[in-house]
Amino acid sequence: MNYPPGPSNLLLGFDTIRGFGRDPLHYLTQLSAKYDSDLIYYRLGPIDGYMVKTPQLVYEVLVKQAKKFQKWYRQKEVFGKFDGDGLVNSDGDFWRRQRKLVQPAFHTQRLHRYADAMVTYTEQMIAAWQGKTIQLPIQHTMSDLTRKIVTKTLFNADVSSESNLIGEIIQVLQEMAFREMRMPFSLPDWLPLPHKQRERDAIHTIDQIILRIIAERRQSGEDYGDLLSMLLMAKDDTGQGMSDQQARDEAMTLFIAGHETTATALAWTWYLIAGHPQVEARLIAEIDAIGARPLTFADLPQLSYTLMVFKESMRLYPPTWMFPREVAEDVEIGGYLLKKGALIHIPVYQIHHDPRYFREPTLFNPDRFAPECEDQIVPYSYFPFGGGPRVCIGNGFALMEAQLILATVLQKARLRLAPDQGAPELQPLIVLQPKGDLQMIVEPR
Ligand code: HEM
Repeated sequence: MNYPPGPSNLLLGFDTIRGFGRDPLHYLTQLSAKYDSDLIYYRLGPIDGYMVKTPQLVYEVLVKQAKKFQKWYRQKEVFGKFDGDGLVNSDGDFWRRQRKLVQPAFHTQRLHRYADAMVTYTEQMIAAWQGKTIQLPIQHTMSDLTRKIVTKTLFNADVSSESNLIGEIIQVLQEMAFREMRMPFSLPDWLPLPHKQRERDAIHTIDQIILRIIAERRQSGEDYGDLLSMLLMAKDDTGQGMSDQQARDEAMTLFIAGHETTATALAWTWYLIAGHPQVEARLIAEIDAIGARPLTFADLPQLSYTLMVFKESMRLYPPTWMFPREVAEDVEIGGYLLKKGALIHIPVYQIHHDPRYFREPTLFNPDRFAPECEDQIVPYSYFPFGGGPRVCIGNGFALMEAQLILATVLQKARLRLAPDQGAPELQPLIVLQPKGDLQMIVEPR
C-alpha cells in the first residue's frame, strides 16, 4: 500500500506514541513543520494514523466524504460512560435522528431566552467583586460562570442548589476521562479499584439528579423555557419523542460540551485583551456607546467588534485544538487510500496558525474578522466549531454567551495580568487550557 510521508514506524511507531503521550499539541506542530505534505502518516501501535494539513482535506473529511468517517471508538468508549449515546458520541441514523430532535433547542427564538440568564449571572459575578480591585484565576472564574449559565439554561431553576455539586462531579469525570483517553485501552469498569468506584458513584449521583428532574417534568408537562423542556417536547417524523435515558444522555452531553469550551475561550480572550490596550479601548468604546443598562439579545448586532475579538482569540487558542475521526469504510483522500479503522487527527490549532492561510499567524488581529475580511478567509482554514453535518450545535449559543459576558464585564471593570503571572503555557487537555490557570487583576472602571 502507498502511504504519505511521515515519521519512522519502527517498533509499531513507538516514537510517535511517545510524542503524542508527552505533548500531543507540540508533537503535531513538529510533524506539521517537518513533513511538507498535505497528509502525514504514522503508526500508532496496530492502528494507522494520519494528520490532515490543509483546509481542502479538512473539507473532505468533515463535509464532502463525511459519511465515510465516524467518531473514534476510544472517544465513544471513554465519554460514552458519561454521556451515553448523546450527540457527541453517536453516529449514523441514530445520530441523525437525535440531531434533528435537539436542533430546535438552539433556534434563534430559544437563544433569545437564554440571553437574560447569561447577563444576570455575569452581573451577579461582578456584584460579588464589590467594586474592589481583586486578583482571580480567570479560567476557574469563567468556568464557574459558564457552568452556572448552562445549568440555568439547561435545567432552569431546578438544580440551582445542586449546580455546584453537578459541576464538581463533572469536573472529576472529565479529568478521569482525559487520563483514560491517553491510555491505549480501558480497564473494565467493574474492577474493584478506588478510582473506578469514584467514577461509578459520580455517574450514579448525576443520573439520580437528572432522571429525577426528567420524571418531574414529564409529570407536569410544562414548558420551562429551557433546553431540557425542548429535549422532552421534541418529536421525530413519526411523532416519537426521546426516551428518558436518551433525554438524560443529551442533557449530560450539552452540560459537558456546553461550558468548559466557552470558559476556556473566554479566559484566553481576557488574556489577549489585557495585552492589547488598543483593542481594549475599541471594545470599551463599542460597549459604552450602548450605555450602562443590562445588555439584551437585541444589543448583539451592536457588539460586532466584541465578536471579532472573540473569534480571533479562538483562532489563536482554539478550545477544541484537535479532534479525531475514524475511517468507517475505505476512503480515498489526498490521493491516498485510507483503510477502514484508521485514525485521522484534525489539527485545528496547527491549521489556524498556518501562514499560508493567516498572514503573521501569531499576531492577535481581530480585524481579520471584520465583515469585509472574513469573507476572504479560506473555507476550513478557520473552524473552531468543526464543520459539516457535525458542526457544533451550540456555536450560536457560545458566540452569544461570549459577547454578552465580555461586554457586561467591560461595562464595569477592566482586567489586567497579575504582576507575577508569566507567559501562560499551553495545556492541551480535552480543551486547550492555560496551564495552572491565569492570574488576573480585576479593577473597577
Ligand atoms: C467556544 C465554545 C465551543 C467550542 C469551541 C465548541 C467546539 C465544538 C467542536 C469543534 C465540535 C465538533 C467536534 C467533532 O466534530 O468531533 C463540537 C460539537 C458539539 N458541541 Fe460544541 N463547542 C463550543 C460550545 C458548545 C456549547 C455552548 C454547546 C451546548 C450548549 C455545545 C455542544 C456541542 C455538541 C452537542 C456537539 C456535538 C454535535 C454533533 O456531533 O452533532 N458546544 N463543538
